[in-house]
Amino acid sequence: MKFKKLATIVLLAGALGAVQARAAASIDAPAKVLASGAPSAQASAQLIAQGRYLASAADCVACHTAKGGKPFAGGLGIASPVGVIYSSNITPDKATGIGDYSLEDFDRAVRRGIAKDGTTLYPAMPYVSYARLTPADVGALYAYFRHEVAPVSRTNRATGIVWPLSMRWPLRFWRMTFAPAPVANADAAASGAQRVARGRYLVEGAAHCGACHTPRGLGLQEKALSDDGRYFLSGGVVDGYVAKNLRGDRQDGLGAWSEDDIVAFLKGGRSTHAAAFGGMSDVVERSTQYMSDADLAAIAAYLKTLKPAHEGGAALVPDASAALKLRAGTARDNGALTYVDNCAACHRTSGSGYAQTFPALALSSVVNGADPTSLVHLVLQGGQMPSTKAAPTHYGMPGFASRLTDRDIADVLTFVRSSWGNRAAAVSADQVARIRRAVGAAPAPSRAENP
Ligand code: HEC
Ligand code: HEC
Ligand code: HEC
Repeated sequence: MKFKKLATIVLLAGALGAVQARAAASIDAPAKVLASGAPSAQASAQLIAQGRYLASAADCVACHTAKGGKPFAGGLGIASPVGVIYSSNITPDKATGIGDYSLEDFDRAVRRGIAKDGTTLYPAMPYVSYARLTPADVGALYAYFRHEVAPVSRTNRATGIVWPLSMRWPLRFWRMTFAPAPVANADAAASGAQRVARGRYLVEGAAHCGACHTPRGLGLQEKALSDDGRYFLSGGVVDGYVAKNLRGDRQDGLGAWSEDDIVAFLKGGRSTHAAAFGGMSDVVERSTQYMSDADLAAIAAYLKTLKPAHEGGAALVPDASAALKLRAGTARDNGALTYVDNCAACHRTSGSGYAQTFPALALSSVVNGADPTSLVHLVLQGGQMPSTKAAPTHYGMPGFASRLTDRDIADVLTFVRSSWGNRAAAVSADQVARIRRAVGAAPAPSRAENP
């Protein structure tokens, strides 16, 4: 059923693409930028270093390395609604990698999603974001992959997508409809002269924050690729976690975070407001912690310019009554009692946690999001903070899947979402049951002996 629906969407997108029939954009080729005289050894070392930095900011290694495999040799399975897509070998091996890709071939793949043989790449490769890269930055990436990445012989694996969806030609229409043409004037934005412009360039481009944080439309396209609508970075779902709203909303966005809080989070995986978990833990560990302080500050400055996604969200106000009740031992409902027994040792009766160790639940933008998926997922399976240069300790939270029933988890999260000043909707046992199945968590304990 799902397949059929998607096929319709792809065909629909195809029709749209044909109607729009964008004029082939005249992209300025990176070759032009690089062809200005043979570079000196020092200049090419500099170019390679710039490419290494960008590859890390763009997290190429995340998708292009299989579990336990060699860096960039591909073969990681990426789930999509149509089936599994395997990433390509992008090491400079001539036979199985991209060793015979010219700079133009590389540029077409990275910024436009077109492989050397002319077929369109699945958008699991975030070329809609990389379209924002400047020609100079593409040239630097190319130099790095060409001269510093070790060649690995590993043949690409065909997708696990069944016919007819495995045909690549409809992807061409998807690309024509949804992928932007590389931005010709991006150089100005990348100059670093303006902090916010540099932040925008990194967020929309190399760091592809929107690939996770922007909601997707019917064609599975990101609803916005830049801040020209309120959808951009207003929250998406990846691998069973909500990649939450990063806009200015005060309840569930970054409205209450300072620029320094954002920098601390991207650098150390924790701030006074939250700890990174799920996919964000990997992003911090592999990518953002290596960004320069100036670039992190630029990203923070840019994020703080984003208007709230929803009108009229008032700031959350602290409320001491839940903490007083817990401490006095007068709370009787299952949610509060489950909290005292299982959570308060780390997150405290005040919900304020311990700075840099156990995140606060009171007034947290994660806790106050409309969609509780992340919270249920975390309570079921636990989590571990990323380990970074700035904050090496992996503090962890145990999973409660085999200790708490769906009812207990719904009640404790409902308690958390309505205490200490938090103001988010209740969670139902049905929601928990659904997420328990979807993420493959252990079955709930039977409570026959203790109904
Ligand atoms: C979110 C996952 C993801 C990230 C991040 C990513 N890629 Fe990819 N990439 C893929 C997938 C999946 C494919 C294969 C798509 C297909 O088969 O249609 C691919 C394909 C490619 C190809 C085409 C190879 C070929 O055989 O023609 C190149 C080149 C490439 N990626 C380079 C990069 C570079 C450089 C970066 C970092 C700047 C990067 N990718 C980051 C997922 C990713
Ligand atoms: C691979 C998917 C992915 C990418 C790419 C990604 N994020 Fe995230 N991000 C998530 C998920 C999932 C969460 C929710 C878990 C959490 O709060 O740690 C999250 C949470 C966050 C939070 C915490 C917000 C809060 O209120 O607690 C911030 C800040 C953030 N991301 C910023 C960014 C920025 C900036 C980028 C780009 C540089 C980025 N993310 C790229 C998946 C991603
Ligand atoms: C052993 C200490 C410990 C216990 C017990 C514990 N947690 Fe946690 N909790 C943590 C840590 C550490 C994190 C950060 C996890 C990560 O980054 O992956 C966390 C994260 C969270 C978050 C996300 C907060 C944010 O903004 O990042 C929520 C919500 C949460 N816990 C709820 C609970 C609930 C509900 C319980 C009881 C059922 C509980 N925790 C029990 C240590 C604990």
